[in-house]
Amino acid sequence: MKDIWQSRTSFILASIGSAIGLGNIWRFPYVCYANGGGAFLIPYLIALLTSGIPLMVLEFSLGHKFSKPAPAAFGNIKKGFEVLGWFALLIGFGIVTYYAVVMGWCFNYLGYSFNLAWGKDTQTFFFNQFLKISDSPMHIGSIQWMIVLGLVLTWIAIIASIWKGPNTVGKVVYYTVIIPWIILIVLVIRGITLPGAIEGLKFYLTPKFSALLDYKVWLAAYSQVFFSLTIGFGVQITYASFLPRDSDVVNNAFLVSFANNATSFVGGFAVFSTLGYYAQQTGLPVSEVVKSGPHLAFVTYPTIISMLPFAAGLFGILFFLMLLTLGIDSAFSLVEAGAASIIDKFKLKRIYVNIGFGIIAMLIGIIYTTRGGLYWLDIVDHFMNNYGLLVVGIIECIAIGYFYNHKELREYANSKSDFTIGPWWDFCIKFLTPIVVGILFVTNIIERIKAPYGGYSRFAEFLGGWLLIILFIIIAVFLFRTRRRE
Ligand code: PFF
Repeated sequence: MKDIWQSRTSFILASIGSAIGLGNIWRFPYVCYANGGGAFLIPYLIALLTSGIPLMVLEFSLGHKFSKPAPAAFGNIKKGFEVLGWFALLIGFGIVTYYAVVMGWCFNYLGYSFNLAWGKDTQTFFFNQFLKISDSPMHIGSIQWMIVLGLVLTWIAIIASIWKGPNTVGKVVYYTVIIPWIILIVLVIRGITLPGAIEGLKFYLTPKFSALLDYKVWLAAYSQVFFSLTIGFGVQITYASFLPRDSDVVNNAFLVSFANNATSFVGGFAVFSTLGYYAQQTGLPVSEVVKSGPHLAFVTYPTIISMLPFAAGLFGILFFLMLLTLGIDSAFSLVEAGAASIIDKFKLKRIYVNIGFGIIAMLIGIIYTTRGGLYWLDIVDHFMNNYGLLVVGIIECIAIGYFYNHKELREYANSKSDFTIGPWWDFCIKFLTPIVVGILFVTNIIERIKAPYGGYSRFAEFLGGWLLIILFIIIAVFLFRTRRRE
């Protein structure tokens, strides 16, 4: 029996749920800050309009038209493109293995919130007591069992949420989309009513236009758009393949994209207003208090929570509950897309695929629970996002733009939709996105040739970056060449 969403709302919520994740709250504000503050919103918006939304329309149309998960849908364009579908899923797999570990941290911190167990020195607590971080990725050291416990809980929740495919997902997403939004609104109100909030918001929204001349800012904008919308993962294609024949395509793509961006933007208000308060309390300038993603959620935020004048623990619980509910539907969207693709090709039983997937991903995730885990997480995150996702995006555009009748795909999407898209879409897919993203990609590769990422050793960079990508290409080719079971 074909898997199908029970309602349009289920599909939209599932797709929004996949897009909205940790990326909106812990990644967006930081990336925005690091790349020119308010000025970042300009490249971000341009990336969204010229690549994000066009690719979302592309992925929805492709999934809907062929009614097949990503690898088979790409295989319909030209047989060999099936490899691209598997590669996209594998990049997503690489991401979900560490994403689940970050959710495992959230589970622990949810527990710590009850008695503000992180104490006064949240930085020492996070790095030295909780992660017990070593001095380099090569010293991986022992496994931290509390993090493993969080990881196991995360995987149980993920697998339970996709147990019967779109049937279960369609129900779970009502909770995992609506709950974090309610919490987010509470946190925004709490944030902007704190003294000093305005300074933080000024920092968030005041543009630094010189940043626009830096290619890195544009690279960050494009990779954040891809990561945030979950495009280039094969997820949106697969989700759209579960749509009934007469569903809308273009509307849905715009709706999901705007909902996702609204969340990032509003998330920025919650985060920066609170940072303004923190800056005021400590006498530091706001520019000094914003640190990297993990730092923001697990060091800065706990510090601020402890400072709150009343119900501090409650806000801690809300914050980490929000991160967990935000993250889970992104994580399970990827697992569901992978499972649906394997079931489609190899005709295995869903229950075995789900459990097998969960166990393998969890075991791989154990690397990130070691004392050197954070370093590996950082390296893998950089390579999956800046190389993996962008390559998939570029090849997707080339596949549709040059090996398929893109006009026909646009007309197909239009024939299904309340409002239609014009030839600008063809232009974005055929020229703009592959050229702009291609240039960014090549510039970044040159940068990598000059110096290893993040000051790590070449060897560590090779293991966590290049080797992983090469391995994924080999596995993708292998999966493509394995015979389809009828
Ligand atoms: N769109 C998600 C986010 O912004 O957090 C990214 C994501 C992560 C999607 C992991 C899927 C996934 F498995």
